[in-house]
Amino acid sequence: MANVVVVGAQWGDEGKGKIVDWLSERADVIARFQGGHNAGHTLVIDGQVYKLHALPSGVVRAGKLSVIGNGVVLDPWHLVSEIETLRAQGVTITPDTLMIAENTPLILPIHGELDRAREAAVSVAKIGTTGRGIGPAYEDKVGRRAVRVADLADDATLQARVDRALAHHDALRRGLGLEPVDRAALLDALRAVAPKILEYAAPVWKVLGEKRKAGRRILFEGAQGALLDIDFGTYPFVTSSNVIAGQAATGTGIGPGSVDFVLGIVKAYTTRVGEGPFPTELDDADGRRLGERGHEFGTTTGRQRRCGWFDAVLVRQTCATSGVNGIALTKLDVLDGFERLRICTGYELEGKRLDHLPTAADEQARCTPVYEEMPGWAESTEGARSWADLPANAIKYVRRVEELIDCPVALLSTSPEREDAILVTDPFAD
Ligand code: IMP
Repeated sequence: MANVVVVGAQWGDEGKGKIVDWLSERADVIARFQGGHNAGHTLVIDGQVYKLHALPSGVVRAGKLSVIGNGVVLDPWHLVSEIETLRAQGVTITPDTLMIAENTPLILPIHGELDRAREAAVSVAKIGTTGRGIGPAYEDKVGRRAVRVADLADDATLQARVDRALAHHDALRRGLGLEPVDRAALLDALRAVAPKILEYAAPVWKVLGEKRKAGRRILFEGAQGALLDIDFGTYPFVTSSNVIAGQAATGTGIGPGSVDFVLGIVKAYTTRVGEGPFPTELDDADGRRLGERGHEFGTTTGRQRRCGWFDAVLVRQTCATSGVNGIALTKLDVLDGFERLRICTGYELEGKRLDHLPTAADEQARCTPVYEEMPGWAESTEGARSWADLPANAIKYVRRVEELIDCPVALLSTSPEREDAILVTDPFAD
């Protein structure tokens, strides 16, 4: 199979980094298709630690083409500093190895300011954003007042685009008690960063089409998780992009038929950063144990993640909306040593049993999870590389997860080390 999409199937932080790295080694092209530098992937290769936020995971590997697609929102100053950090670590990044879609909207400093000012406002319920300006940048994209990568090439166009954005932002800022935008300073900053971005600008849709025709393997690297999807997530406590697999097509300009396998990344329990509903959240010793054993702190913001039992209802839902062909189940070893484990198999709402999370917020709040209990295992599963290495109860747990989410396990990851995995189905196999 030539092209694989990787998506997070929960609220992000499912351990995509390791899986994407493993797949990117065998891909020719690695493309980001949504989100921005709100994402955080840590890669460990030959003992070197690389922290990526905006760049596709392929950049750290020689001979790969990394692509930032139009579905991403890009902070140009952040990107330049991320590139410089990686260069200082010995990574080579050139226009031959990195391409940015010309129609990618930019995140400007005013987007971050607006994001943070809104989150600080006491009158509205906080979303718990990363504060990186993601939401306001997407608002400007659909509001048709974004500054896009291609606009950096011509000063008259750039000024016109900035003026269109500022007509909106200055009005908003007055309402929030912020100073009007310093137009001259913003333009100067954009002019200064422009050449550092434009050298990578390319018609990505065309390049990807050519690569596809030539039989090259393309890996579409999703960020965040499907429960943070702007349409199918726990709205409004979501990110501002489509996260589900269909976005790989619209976020890069390749047809939907070009996707051969969708791999959903699923953690053996559930975590969430930021605000919003979380039916299986644990506020007890079990929850704290999951957080400690799983090192559940955000890569981007350092925030402590909320932890809870595995929610099969939500994962069944995300596997359906993304058309997941197989899952990579991660962090099973975090469950080692629990005497008993619980899996959410449905919800109860006013005496009725539900097999999906309702869309209405008030109904979500009133839903209580229905649990199935399973015996745990005392042995360690860390580092297991074959089914024979796993205790019987761990295998039972995995099989029950597959059944409940209606999707097979393609890969079982048993530690952060790349080799510690059990491969069932290779997404790139012919
Ligand atoms: P935003 O994407 O910064 O607007 O944040 C919106 C919501 O998405 C918040 O709950 C964030 O915590 C969450 N979020 C954004 N990016 C990530 C991620 O990479 N992992 C997990 N949660 C994320």
